[in-house]
Amino acid sequence: MSKFTEKLFHCWHPVAYARALLPDAPFAAKLLDEHLVIWRTADGTPHAMRDLCIHRGTALSLGWVRNDCIVCPYHAWEYNGEGACVKIPQQTRLSIPSKARTVTYACQERYGLIWVALDEPVYPLPEIPELENDGWKIVETGPFPWQSDASRQVENFTDFGHFPWVHPGLLGDPERPLVPEYSVETSGHILHYSVVRPEAPNSDDFPVFANEEVVKPERRSRYELHLPYTIVLRLGWGGEKGMVYFFVSQPLSDNRCTGYCIIGRNYDLDQPDSVLQAFEDTIFGQDQRIVESQRPEQVPFDLADELHLKFDAVAVNYRRAMQAQGLDYYHYLDVAE
Ligand code: FES
Ligand SMILES: [Fe+2]
Repeated sequence: MSKFTEKLFHCWHPVAYARALLPDAPFAAKLLDEHLVIWRTADGTPHAMRDLCIHRGTALSLGWVRNDCIVCPYHAWEYNGEGACVKIPQQTRLSIPSKARTVTYACQERYGLIWVALDEPVYPLPEIPELENDGWKIVETGPFPWQSDASRQVENFTDFGHFPWVHPGLLGDPERPLVPEYSVETSGHILHYSVVRPEAPNSDDFPVFANEEVVKPERRSRYELHLPYTIVLRLGWGGEKGMVYFFVSQPLSDNRCTGYCIIGRNYDLDQPDSVLQAFEDTIFGQDQRIVESQRPEQVPFDLADELHLKFDAVAVNYRRAMQAQGLDYYHYLDVAE
């Protein structure tokens, strides 16, 4: 039985970068312990289905696409985009049983990602006009598969206190460990908060931020944390230059996730993608060993379970909001097992 609370099935989650989904190459993905096959019809529409052929339980992801159908690799039964089996080569079409179907899921492509909801989605995707604006350059980094729950990966992205220690010289400075005052506003499934804090100067290795000419660099960070696992972060340095981070974690199972980090900028449009990609490989690599060591693997949503200080206000509000929205599955473990 799934360890996940029902509500998570009603949320959009990413399963891959869209560029990874080639027209003739279905692939397997995992989401909330469900095995999926992801594939495209000829018009480019992405489809998500249970990765299971009703005939003998074979993984459809091992098959191929023909005539806008996915073909099972074992006996070549063909399933259309609605999940109906429309061809059984071993017999005539008229006698296809109505039970010959596979389960389909809501699927869409946006912001360069393939999104799947396993049940009727209750929250829309965030609106991020910068990522759909031709004046902005978009760079896809990662993906970052970690041995942790998605909740831990997301909280790490929101955690201010670790920057000087885990990312010295890149995102923080051990000489300036104080976290500035900030407050969190929660409206429904979205947390809003902003921070202005001293900026670590651009390193020579990774000149990715827009702070060169400022004497005492300050970075303004405006966050939207969309429950359960999505963050929109807008960075500014007081001028026209802007940067947006779109981070979202795919919950594969309760101790596996994959992070997708998409970055938009309206400056340095000619810089090769590899600069930001290498920068994020470094940052996420520094975080990964820390987060994979955390126990339990899932964020404990009961506030009594860890020790929270004032600068942890995001984590406190995240845990409260996850509970309020019925997205905290941790205490479901007793029931499910
Ligand atoms: S197992 Fe899929 S067609 Fe037989
Ligand atoms: Fe970090």
